[in-house]
Amino acid sequence: MRVLVTGGAGFIGANFVLRTLAERPDVDLTVLDKFTYAANASTLDPVASDIRVVRGDIADASIVDPLVADADLVVNFAAESHNDRSLADPSSFVQTNLVGTYTLLESVRRHDVRLHHISTDEVYGDLDLDDPARFTETTAYNPSSPYSSTKAGSDLLVRAWVRSFGVAATLSNCSNNYGPYQHVEKLIPRQITNVLSGIRPKVYGDGANVRDWIHVHDHNDAVWTVIDRGQLGETYLIGADGEVDNLTVVTSILELMGREADAFDFVTDRPGHDRRYAIDATRLRTELGWTPRFTDFRSGLADTIDWYTAHRDWWAPVKAGVEAVYAATQQTL
Ligand code: NAD
Ligand code: TYD
Repeated sequence: MRVLVTGGAGFIGANFVLRTLAERPDVDLTVLDKFTYAANASTLDPVASDIRVVRGDIADASIVDPLVADADLVVNFAAESHNDRSLADPSSFVQTNLVGTYTLLESVRRHDVRLHHISTDEVYGDLDLDDPARFTETTAYNPSSPYSSTKAGSDLLVRAWVRSFGVAATLSNCSNNYGPYQHVEKLIPRQITNVLSGIRPKVYGDGANVRDWIHVHDHNDAVWTVIDRGQLGETYLIGADGEVDNLTVVTSILELMGREADAFDFVTDRPGHDRRYAIDATRLRTELGWTPRFTDFRSGLADTIDWYTAHRDWWAPVKAGVEAVYAATQQTL
């Protein structure tokens, strides 16, 4: 099977590439990635001779089209993915998440190639902390930020291309991922690398916001499950019952790294900050038989701390730049 992985040099896409190479020798992989600030070229270096890597934009039809024509399947991980950046400058989010997805859709339509579109639970907006509800495949879209609204728009484009043009696509919406190779701008790697750099972790607002954490390997196993067994045209929610509030995440990191649990700072809150995300993955579990394997969050966190501790070369070159951007916009409370 020839698979085109867009965004394959980013966090989840690169983990997908590495895991697929290890577990599916029958798959022939091509990565199309723009290598924005979010990509790390060194992630794919060890497998450079096993895959084809093309540097290019998913919104550029002249690059996309021949690659799609040569593929049996496109898995679209390419996106602008960080909420804080989308608040500072939404333009690249509109361009990549909307125009880029549109460009891929027109190409898979032209060449009759199967697409799996990767999306987020953030398209559903947020839930109250004391609400027993969780998101399901039928929850109404209600996104809050430029990031989540452009992801929501990209999902709706995929659905429309399925219905109007018969494009063979599936979609999955996953909760917050953690694990190796995640950019240090995101909550968990930011705080681990802060501690490793002698900087106090930073918690937005009151820290009571809840995210539904899933290990990136569980996400990618679920993506393959949907590719292998999902019904065309359908959406599957991916989550591993991992609701944890941000304060608990940060204090757990501090404890696991041998620091005092209160050695962090509260900083100014994110505008429009979603309170809680929570996924009900019953459909994926019952219809497609998927189950997560990395369900002990504290032990997954400990492994992730070990990974960042052992891979300083991977993240150190970008750490100071990320912290400088945050320092310009966030005040300690
Ligand atoms: P990431 O920011 O780490 O990686 C995105 C990758 O896409 C980068 O390699 C970047 O260079 C590439 N890219 C950006 N714009 C591009 C363009 N125009 N053309 C080609 N490549 C481009 O993101 P991630 O965390 O790996 O997320 C991957 C996907 O999963 C995204 O669609 C995101 O919305 C979704 N998702 C992420 C999470 C999470 O917790 N990180 C959760 C659910 C869903
Ligand atoms: P993030 O990793 O940016 O993911 P998302 O916005 O997609 O959920 O943030 C996760 C949560 O952590 C979110 O509630 C914002 C919060 N957060 C902090 O408290 N401190 C930080 O330094 C960062 C980056 C995020």
